[in-house]
Amino acid sequence: MLQKRSEAGADRSTDIETVSSTFMDYGYMDERFRENPLPLKAHHEPCRYAIQLYHHVVGDLGVKGKHVLEVGSGRGGGSNYVAEYLEPASVTGLDLSSAAIDFCRRAHTADRLTFVEGTAMDLPFKDSSFDIVMNVESSHCYPSFDKFLSEAARVLRPGGLFSWVDARFDDRLLDLERSFALSGLDLVRQTDITQNVVQALDAISDDKKRVIEEKIPRPFRPLIMSGVAVRGTLVYNALESGKLRYLSKVLRKPDRAAGEEANYPFDWSAAERFDPGAGSTLRRFQRTKTWMSRYISSKKPTII
Ligand SMILES: C[S@@+](CC[C@H](N)C(=O)[O-])C[C@H]1O[C@@H](n2cnc3c(N)ncnc32)[C@H](O)[C@@H]1O
Repeated sequence: MLQKRSEAGADRSTDIETVSSTFMDYGYMDERFRENPLPLKAHHEPCRYAIQLYHHVVGDLGVKGKHVLEVGSGRGGGSNYVAEYLEPASVTGLDLSSAAIDFCRRAHTADRLTFVEGTAMDLPFKDSSFDIVMNVESSHCYPSFDKFLSEAARVLRPGGLFSWVDARFDDRLLDLERSFALSGLDLVRQTDITQNVVQALDAISDDKKRVIEEKIPRPFRPLIMSGVAVRGTLVYNALESGKLRYLSKVLRKPDRAAGEEANYPFDWSAAERFDPGAGSTLRRFQRTKTWMSRYISSKKPTII
């Protein structure tokens, strides 16, 4: 039986400070949300931009009555949003971190919501057990993106949807596309949402900065601020300039019993002409070589 309340028995699911700490994503903003704001409960209001990212990911996938898995659910705010607002049959949040799973079991009290410790590399679920698999800002941490895609495809029922958002540096994009093309999943839609994420970061940067200045010792602040992409930090600047791209894709598992073949558009000849893995290794090598030759020339022995 999962424990969903704190030791003291208090319900933390509406406590604003707890709720605010349950999202780890960068957030999302677009015209649709500006014109028609999502109706949220007061205690979810501080997480509006983070919730908008989750709504972008699954809000129009017909979640009602479906079994949903989130891989890399972190502190559970997103899985809880889906369970509390979108009427699924069930939501399962999975994360590698046992501390995050313990926190989620105490903090989130929505019905039909459970949290499981495990790895995206080897999902502890039977084949075809979910209608929707969502994955938000987590896959950049995985040792093998290909292995994760094959696991996501395995646990989806035929016809089920995989909805993914995450950031990648521009020199990794071809590799990423190659992985999707080999996954056996159909592409349903894709968008570059980098500027939507930047809009959200602009809106919440000052609040994030204030909280970090209140709670984090000074020496650690620059690292944390960049990690959460406060305006002006390395990560924020990379997103703003488009060097780091925040992408969104929905894919569908084809029904092979019905004879459907996967369909993911990919230019294999472009991939042969340019291998981003080799490219970045080459660039790293050239940078090292330049640095070494400068270093060596600055140390030339003086001939007396
Ligand atoms: C940036 S957080 C995002 C959490 C959540 N999706 C959100 O947006 O609030 C990334 C999460 O991925 C989890 N993670 C990293 N590697 C993982 C793996 N191999 N399997 C499952 N979860 C993993 C981390 O523990 C972390 O909670």
